[in-house]
Amino acid sequence: MGIYKDFAHFYKNGHYPDFSKRMFELLPGVLELFEARPQRVLDIACGEGTFAVAMARAEYDVTGIDESERMLHYARARARKEKVRVGFHAQDMRSLSFVDEFELVTCWFDSLNYLLELDDVCRTFAGVARALRPGGLFIFDVNTIYGLAVNWQSEGCFVQTDRPKLFEVLRPEYDYEANIATLRITGFRKTAEGWRRMDEQHRERGYTLEELATCVDRAGLHKLACWGSFREKSEPQSDSGRVWFVVGK
Ligand SMILES: C[S@@+](CC[C@H](N)C(=O)[O-])C[C@H]1O[C@@H](n2cnc3c(N)ncnc32)[C@H](O)[C@@H]1O
Repeated sequence: MGIYKDFAHFYKNGHYPDFSKRMFELLPGVLELFEARPQRVLDIACGEGTFAVAMARAEYDVTGIDESERMLHYARARARKEKVRVGFHAQDMRSLSFVDEFELVTCWFDSLNYLLELDDVCRTFAGVARALRPGGLFIFDVNTIYGLAVNWQSEGCFVQTDRPKLFEVLRPEYDYEANIATLRITGFRKTAEGWRRMDEQHRERGYTLEELATCVDRAGLHKLACWGSFREKSEPQSDSGRVWFVVGK
């Protein structure tokens, strides 16, 4: 069973894109800190394109990849509506096909946690290293083990979206041995024929900061910063639910 199919509609119309809007707003301060002036940007796991299209509007030359055709469909529609050109491609982030093309690669909103094997994270980082030009930056966030095991589990079953035509319930669980969180998503959307139900099951694995740093090293990249807050640019704490890495080539 694939994911980001029927759920893509809920993603696009829910609060989810707010995250990448925030990343877009905060990014200039981070680029300034590292004296980076990228022009060509690759957004991996770009989803429904909010970040990629905002970057294209800000006159970056943007490419986005994602494995979900449905998310890419919405991303292309967003680019058309905003009258910007973005190259959106269906691609698995574990086998990126670019060589020496980008000054900045981004991967937002715990997309890397969808990789359930550390080897897959390492393969993805190796592809990012190939795609980056020398001196380029790779910026990503992940949910921490604390975020998945504690924060995600704190509410039990909860209503994520409650709107006149959209209703969504999330049921999280955690496997402490495998460090894998499972999110059962059930949504109802009102159509002309009545309410239509959607079910998807998403799994995210938590990695230690050391495991992620090992993949960075193995890819021939170097860690420039690791933060528990992208706004404050502060050290991760033991109860940080999410961390951001800035990595250089
Ligand atoms: C939480 S969404 C984040 C989307 C977007 N980055 C954002 O900030 O809104 C996770 C995305 O990762 C994509 N994804 C998951 N595994 C992937 C893989 N192996 N290769 C490419 N995309 C993947 C999904 O299709 C989905 O669009």
